[in-house]
Amino acid sequence: MHQKIAKLRTEALEKIGSAPDAGALSAAKNHFLGRKGLLAALLKDLPGLKPEEKKEAGAALNKLKKELEEAVEKKTSALGKGTSGPGSILDHTLPGKRIPKGRQNILTTTMEEVIAIFKGLGYSVAEGPEIETEYYNFEALNIPAGHPSRDMWSTLYIKDDLLLRTHTSPVQIRYMEKSKPPFAAIFPGKVFRRDAADLTHLPVFHQVEGLTAGRDITFSDLKGTLAAFCRELFGKNRKVRLRPSYFPFTEPSAEVDVECFVCEGSGCRICKNTGWIEILGSGMVDPNVFLAVKYDPEQISGFAFGVGIERIAMLKYGIDDIRVFFENDLRVMRQF
Ligand code: PHE
Repeated sequence: MHQKIAKLRTEALEKIGSAPDAGALSAAKNHFLGRKGLLAALLKDLPGLKPEEKKEAGAALNKLKKELEEAVEKKTSALGKGTSGPGSILDHTLPGKRIPKGRQNILTTTMEEVIAIFKGLGYSVAEGPEIETEYYNFEALNIPAGHPSRDMWSTLYIKDDLLLRTHTSPVQIRYMEKSKPPFAAIFPGKVFRRDAADLTHLPVFHQVEGLTAGRDITFSDLKGTLAAFCRELFGKNRKVRLRPSYFPFTEPSAEVDVECFVCEGSGCRICKNTGWIEILGSGMVDPNVFLAVKYDPEQISGFAFGVGIERIAMLKYGIDDIRVFFENDLRVMRQF
């Protein structure tokens, strides 16, 4: 037994020490130290030995195992240091692995663009919860329970008084509860409606809400701000028009149209032959909304607006199916 162990030791140390590369080292390790290797074979002979011999041989084999493992380790790091030339662990001539790259969703790009424009106009950015109470989503916004205007938003209820916000307007209320005018702020985020998915609707989409409040803020400020925004987004010489509209939380209310940037106003499929494209809803903050947050409507005025991000991205990138944004198909996203 003694001799067998000594022979194995010499042989193994020689093989390990002279292994030219990682492959040979691994083969040698397996040959001597593997589960079916030579060392394991000797261990199998132990039970047949006399007690005295067994003890001695067992200890010797254990020692040899450690010694060989250390030799393998040393050789591994020695080979690792020689990282160039034939037979080295790192072969510089092998082709690299291509790591698949994603692409930022153009919806995110559009959101960032809208936020950047308003930041440039001096607006700060805040956020609010996606799960809301009826108070913030409706009542404080001058939409009492049972009022027919609630039908403007098909609402997803979680339970009696909890719902998924149908617009970003509740963040107006939360922001004003914590702030003193004058201020100008935007509130980007997800909104939810009980709508079936089709070309232009999804049960979840994105809005950027805007709100400014202070003394002597007029409808002219609203018009100037939103026209500047539209021109920044769709081109410097775009015509912009305001169309009378209705929202319970603004009075007067207006929808903003930009001159169709596809046909330059002459009429096409995108603008449904009107020459104009509707971009956002807006209006002067209704006095009842200011009263809900304990502002004095005799002293404070302001305007608010809500921009649909999917709609803007569809127009900007010429996409005619809103579902494309959420499919995250790289073949589509890589085109932009
Ligand atoms: N909250 C409105 C909507 O989602 C948009 C809007 C915001 C209109 C602010 C006017 C002022 O339909």
